[in-house]
Amino acid sequence: MTDARLFHWEYNPPPIAHEVFRVEGGTPLRGEVTISGAKNAALKLLAAATLTGERCRFMNVPEIEDVRVMVETLRDLGVVVDHPAPNVYEVASGDVDWLFVPLEAAAKMRASFILLGPLLARFGQVIMSNPGGDRIGRRPVNLHVDAMRALGAEIDYRNGYYFAKAPGRLRGAEIRFPNVTVMGTENAMLAATLADGHTVIRPAALEPEVDDLIAMLQKMGAEVERTYPDTIEVRGRRRLRGANHSVIPDRIEAGTFVIAAAVSGGDVTLRGAPCDHLGAFLEVLANMGVQVACGANSIEVHGAPRGSGAYRACDVETAPYPGLATDLQPPTSVLLTQATGTSRLYETIFEDRLEWLGELARMGASVEIIDEHHATIVGPSRLRGTAVEIGDLRAGASLILAALAADGITTIRGAHHVHRGYENIEGKFIGLGARIERLAEGTVATPA
Ligand code: UD1
Repeated sequence: MTDARLFHWEYNPPPIAHEVFRVEGGTPLRGEVTISGAKNAALKLLAAATLTGERCRFMNVPEIEDVRVMVETLRDLGVVVDHPAPNVYEVASGDVDWLFVPLEAAAKMRASFILLGPLLARFGQVIMSNPGGDRIGRRPVNLHVDAMRALGAEIDYRNGYYFAKAPGRLRGAEIRFPNVTVMGTENAMLAATLADGHTVIRPAALEPEVDDLIAMLQKMGAEVERTYPDTIEVRGRRRLRGANHSVIPDRIEAGTFVIAAAVSGGDVTLRGAPCDHLGAFLEVLANMGVQVACGANSIEVHGAPRGSGAYRACDVETAPYPGLATDLQPPTSVLLTQATGTSRLYETIFEDRLEWLGELARMGASVEIIDEHHATIVGPSRLRGTAVEIGDLRAGASLILAALAADGITTIRGAHHVHRGYENIEGKFIGLGARIERLAEGTVATPA
């Protein structure tokens, strides 16, 4: 097979349109699962490659829908993206044809907005659609736009598009964010690597994926470093070079499998799992009495028998890293349904990330949504299979977890959301003994 694109499709077929997961719950998961590369690192690394005309090579890239969308968006710009082997991507952006990121790309994936900084810094102009992405809150991009303006860019907003220009070169600046923003930090940092002069970004997000991006940029010759935990400083260069980089493991995928083992009463070893990046999450699990052991490059989980009520309730609050990741709040909520007592949830980052708990309640969880940031969960609940619907990526994976812990059969509509961020999720669960199938909608009977 010579055509890299064909290779890609053979390896990882696109999701079936309007598909459902059908999960038969109650089997304790057992065995080993290998954690893939981090979505939230890979997408930014692919974007960073547009900062140079030289070839960049990435290993351990997850084969997920969001990566496919990013690759397609880059190719539409005229960037050459090769996919010579599974999980390996090569990007060469010698020149681009078209400095325009259309609504089609932006609506599929909010992270396409990460192209603003690098394209503006390298080519001096870009037109970007206002992004859509997950339905989890308002998700504005004002902080990205403000950061580019601080670096000297002129940006107009008309008819849903940002028209951005950098007359001459971007200029180094002091960028102050009113709150921690992961992609805002990354966009500012990417743009500053080619700006004229010194940039200070504060508060800079502390997420491990930001540090992975810093590591890649340093290999490309950028002068960028974290001078204090919450401060990133950049001295702009005229030119960057190509580099090779292996993506860090996905801490959110790892957390998802940890919970899968815990709620199914299984024994699972996660290979290539980043314990170091899961501190706050593992602390919650320790407080709840889940047996988790960290190795150098692995995590072992020994779940209590399903329905035993052996886990303890715990109050949970999300926060920017090193706090508990908002992306791990939905999986953690599933675990809380299996804990004895009342747990309070405080989602501090996004406004709509508790809505999906309504679907969990339909499976028998005792959940009260107090407002857009607060909920309580009383457990333990005996979950039962029913028909539910996925509204966003993390909630989708969490409904699979709930289905694994439930009695009977659950059908989960809207599986495409899950493929945005999880590589071969049903294959990995099947490898652990789960009874899960991915089917086209209409071929599966809906449980009563
Ligand atoms: C990233 C992650 C996402 C994760 C989130 C928080 C990627 C691709 N996505 O999203 O998985 O859930 O961090 O850890 O890396 N905000 C504004 N204006 C802006 C930007 C953000 O008001 O211009 C607000 C957001 O609405 C939110 C908060 O800032 O309330 C933090 O969001 P941010 O860290 O920017 O999230 P993302 O980088 O979009």
